[in-house]
Amino acid sequence: MPKGTAEVATEAARANSLLSPRFYTTDFAAMDRLDLAGVRAEWDAMMAEYEGDNNHDHFQRDEAFGPELAAAQADWSPLLRQEFLDFLISSVTSEFSGCVLYQEVARRVEHPELKALMRYMARDEARHAGFINQSLKDFGMGVDLGALKRTKAATFFKPKFIYYATYLSEKIGYARYITIFRQLERHPDKRFHPIFRWFERWCNDEFRHGESFALILRAQPELLRGLNLLWVRFFLLAVYATMYVRDHTRPTLHEAMGLDSDDYDFTVFRITTEISRQVFPLSLQTDAPAFRAGLRRLVDLSARMEVAKARGGLVGALSKAGLAAQALVCFARLYLHPVDRHALPAQIRVAPAW
Ligand SMILES: [Fe+2]
Ligand SMILES: [Fe+2]
Repeated sequence: MPKGTAEVATEAARANSLLSPRFYTTDFAAMDRLDLAGVRAEWDAMMAEYEGDNNHDHFQRDEAFGPELAAAQADWSPLLRQEFLDFLISSVTSEFSGCVLYQEVARRVEHPELKALMRYMARDEARHAGFINQSLKDFGMGVDLGALKRTKAATFFKPKFIYYATYLSEKIGYARYITIFRQLERHPDKRFHPIFRWFERWCNDEFRHGESFALILRAQPELLRGLNLLWVRFFLLAVYATMYVRDHTRPTLHEAMGLDSDDYDFTVFRITTEISRQVFPLSLQTDAPAFRAGLRRLVDLSARMEVAKARGGLVGALSKAGLAAQALVCFARLYLHPVDRHALPAQIRVAPAW
């Protein structure tokens, strides 16, 4: 049987590499000690929104979906097809890893409000993952989400790391989806798959998930000052750099949307940075020339590491190790690049206005 089947897709989704989405587990008893007193009013308003569930009927295909896909697909190059499927597989994995994490927290914590929140978010992510998986199934590449849950290894993270990482991944997820949606709204001729029509209301879910973690973080001010700011800096850089390197392996996908991978990523960074001022008192200078040069170098090193890996043998292994050391130095330089500092706003929540 030729490769390119559901098994291959599930295997790709299961592989843990530095760049692929992960599954997480945490210290649930510590999560139970969360005190929401400081953010009560905004928390209650947010929970009412989840209860209202304005997207309950959004994740269903309309009648135009099938014909639109059939027409668009005729123009895809093999490379676009490959990059797009790769994009869908990594998206479904990250949607589903959110779903599994939120379900797990909902199941394991005693804290009634945290439990309720996690159930709502797991509900949303299950819809997102299911909707993407339907599009993979069109190509016989559906990921077996049940098998993935049973067999993909989970990484342990302290609650505060879960909060920093999920806050950022929800907000960056919003910024990515809205940037694509706006671009294709301006250039409908570049919409090479109907799924992009769903992105606007979709990313409002992600935005709200990010708001939830913003409130959780602001309810624990000690996580946003002192030495913890070193962690904030680390997570910002890790999330941004990972996205940048991964996106630069898919130039054809962005080109098909009329986007340049670089412009797209820096737009996403600007939006994410603007939003994250609600919670982080510092932000990365992603538009500074030295910072940009460092990111480009990471892309270059990562591409050379792929070549070394493909070469194999002792020479390949040695050259890969050398390149990895250089990448580490490059990452450290980016980490030490100056950051902008700002005070946190009294009102935490912001509207998805991009
Ligand atoms: Fe999602
Ligand atoms: Fe989300």
